[in-house]
Amino acid sequence: MKIIVVKDSIEGGREGFKVFKEALDNGAKVFGLATGSTPETTYAQIVDSDLDFSKCTSINLDEYVGLGANDPQSYHYFMNQHLFSKKPFAHSYLPDGLAKNAKKETARYDALIEKNPIDLQLLGIGQNGHIGFNEPGSSFDGKTQKIRLTESTIEANSRFFENEDQVPKYAYSMGIGSIMKAKKILLEAYGPAKAEVIRKMVKGPITEDVPASILQRHQDVVVIADEAAAALLRS
Ligand code: F6R
Repeated sequence: MKIIVVKDSIEGGREGFKVFKEALDNGAKVFGLATGSTPETTYAQIVDSDLDFSKCTSINLDEYVGLGANDPQSYHYFMNQHLFSKKPFAHSYLPDGLAKNAKKETARYDALIEKNPIDLQLLGIGQNGHIGFNEPGSSFDGKTQKIRLTESTIEANSRFFENEDQVPKYAYSMGIGSIMKAKKILLEAYGPAKAEVIRKMVKGPITEDVPASILQRHQDVVVIADEAAAALLRS
């Protein structure tokens, strides 16, 4: 793992942008994307740049079950707002939160991932070590699944909703097996609440209890963390 420590998320966004630019310059065609607050500064840098993704494909990690693309809390909406409306891709895929049949939807998404091997996968990380919405205990070989969110994830994400009751209890998420197949992975983490999990991810045992710890086995991972999130790596 290559770890880049930055002052704050603004500087992190600039570093994240460089990773995207380098991938694009090297011919990357398929970008795995994330939502949440972490990637916002990287997306802002991309939007402000002249990078051209109009011949590229994006595949997002996850979507809440029950939320449609027009719902302002959905990840479809987030992606349109922060990236796609200003920097369009030729094709942009997210799981369909309104899909009637979960089995068919997860199979559809896996087929898309299979057909579009991911060149660069962007990740945030949950305080419990989740990547995508692969909560602790998820299989390292997993494919796309409908996942029940843990209480800690629901609580952490309630800041985006009016109250905790409104946070969906389930999400579709790309599996860890698919994430690990990406050629290159960029994980960003900001703020003191991520310090402990970043320590576990980088220095702890590889265990399904900390899903992100599997990244130790990937050959090309760049971690961008601010000083607060990287604080426990020194000891
Ligand atoms: C979002 C995702 C999640 C988030 C994680 C951190 O697509 O897959 O794993 O990256 O929950 O969220 P933030 O960035 O809001 O701290």
